[in-house]
Amino acid sequence: MPQSTPARYSPLMVTLHWLTAILVFAAFIVGKNMSRLPNHDASKLAPLAIHMMLGITMLVVIVVRFVARRKTPHPAYASTGNAFLDGLGKFAHYALYLLVFLMAISGMALSMQAGLPQIVFGGAGSLPADFFDFAARAMHGFIAPALFLLILLHVGAAFYHQLFIKDKLFARMGYGK
Ligand code: HEM
Ligand code: HEM
Repeated sequence: MPQSTPARYSPLMVTLHWLTAILVFAAFIVGKNMSRLPNHDASKLAPLAIHMMLGITMLVVIVVRFVARRKTPHPAYASTGNAFLDGLGKFAHYALYLLVFLMAISGMALSMQAGLPQIVFGGAGSLPADFFDFAARAMHGFIAPALFLLILLHVGAAFYHQLFIKDKLFARMGYGK
């Protein structure tokens, strides 16, 4: 259990937060763009390799971050003064961890079902005709917009704190003194 309650997140947690944001946005952009390419197009392999590496790195980062969150002291939940919104905020933070985790796991499951490691990194064989022939593709495609909407809600809530409640919430997720 944390010994004391700091006023802000530790530099480790701040680094992991912004690394999560960069990796998730990058995986989204590459994922959306490459999914428009047909599987027989050889130029799909390079973005697929980048997407898979981003996604696997994301899995490692989100697990390390979740463990660090539980094992190191962190600030108390920010309050809006409204019990419902405060509960929603707490729920949304757990849901963000969970959906990022499930996004990466479903991507890896799809990769296993479609034999992607050998094709993309081993240069052996070619991509299956359609990723939607594999159950994990639907799951990956279903979680993606849910995570996207949750991130929009999260960013909106962060700006609501910063600009309307004026509680300097951003400083808690920064490196300043
Ligand atoms: C531009 C985008 C983003 C902004 C401006 C932002 C802002 C913030 C801020 C200010 C906090 C601190 C909240 C507090 O002090 O209680 C926070 C926490 C958090 N953010 Fe973000 N965030 C962004 C993107 C993301 C993304 C992409 C994710 C994950 C997909 C994410 C996940 C989280 C989580 C899980 C927490 C809670 C931290 C904890 O208590 O463990 N954020 N964010
Ligand atoms: C948090 C991490 C990840 C995010 C945010 C993410 C995001 C996305 C997005 C937005 C799409 C397009 C979905 C659609 O248009 O329906 C996609 C497709 C895909 N992703 Fe991921 N992904 C992640 C992790 C992974 C991992 C770890 C792998 C494999 C190791 C992977 C493999 C794939 C594959 C094979 C597709 C299908 C492309 C297609 O249909 O042409 N993803 N991903």
